[in-house]
Amino acid sequence: MARKKIALVGAGQIGGTMALVLAQKQLGDVVLVDVVEGVPQGKALDIMEGRLPLKTSAVLSGTNNYNDIAGSDVVIVTAGVPRKPGMTRDDLLEVNYGIIEKVGTAIKNTAPNAFVIVVTNPLDAMVYAMQKITGFASAKVVGMAGVLDSSRLACFVAMELGVAAEDVQAVVMGGHGPSMVSLYDFVSVGGIPLPQLMSKEVFDKLSKRTADAGTEIVNLLKTGSAFYSPGVSAVKMAEAYLLDKKSVVTCAAQLAGQYGVKDLYCGVPVVIGEKGVEKILEVKMTEEEKAAFAKSVTEVKVNADWVDNKIKG
Ligand code: APR
Repeated sequence: MARKKIALVGAGQIGGTMALVLAQKQLGDVVLVDVVEGVPQGKALDIMEGRLPLKTSAVLSGTNNYNDIAGSDVVIVTAGVPRKPGMTRDDLLEVNYGIIEKVGTAIKNTAPNAFVIVVTNPLDAMVYAMQKITGFASAKVVGMAGVLDSSRLACFVAMELGVAAEDVQAVVMGGHGPSMVSLYDFVSVGGIPLPQLMSKEVFDKLSKRTADAGTEIVNLLKTGSAFYSPGVSAVKMAEAYLLDKKSVVTCAAQLAGQYGVKDLYCGVPVVIGEKGVEKILEVKMTEEEKAAFAKSVTEVKVNADWVDNKIKG
């Protein structure tokens, strides 16, 4: 069986984290691509040299040439600029769009069968742009945000209750920004519905912290944004595809009428397997949650319209 090829476009903080975790999981060989000379090569070699204690035979390489992603099974894109304190994700729109335009064209030309996972912010707009630029089927172009936002909420619930985070399931939908929607009834703790264990008042505080979680990390780090948890979240999506796991995860998927939304990318629960996004799950929300989701979609649309105008020139 041929080894799978995973290209990581952007060998910065998230790219490096993903390379290490992908190598450890032996999901395939990893190619790190970056515009900065030496960094992708150095990170790849560094991990290669750690393969004995890591107990992996994955092969990693680094390059500054997009042609080296040719034939990739999965491409994960983090190329772009991260936030600094005081910046919102939307502040990155213009600069990161220019990068996604270049990277998307390269993916289209060299890796036409790849499952493309976009991580670059502002996420919903960047994944929307990626699909338009590549012209790939929407099932093969997804954005990583909901896995992370749900994991953050699960973390805060676990911390509040003093239980294992891995036993908490959570769903956070909508745009990857301050308007994201945490669903109270959807959280389960070892299979027990959260409303039996935590009041809505306490949950609302955790939900607010989840929506601000990226900013909380930016303010602590001061030099960039979160990278460990985004890295492992994107790897989870790649793993679902490569192993045809039929995983139920929340991610930014292109809607075709579900939730009354057409064409836009927005965080919703989906099933990921060998065909990419194999199903979009339409869940029932309360009236309050529906209204919050609709508001979030409106915000996502503002950036998508900006992308449309850019593409039209
Ligand atoms: N092609 C390839 N790589 C590029 C390009 C390009 N055209 N332009 C920039 N890069 C690289 C940078 O050189 C840098 O190494 O992308 C990398 C980004 O890494 P970091 O600056 O460390 O940022 P990171 O924390 O990894 O976040 C990347 O993901 O979560 C989002 O908001 C975050 O948009 C940011 C992205």
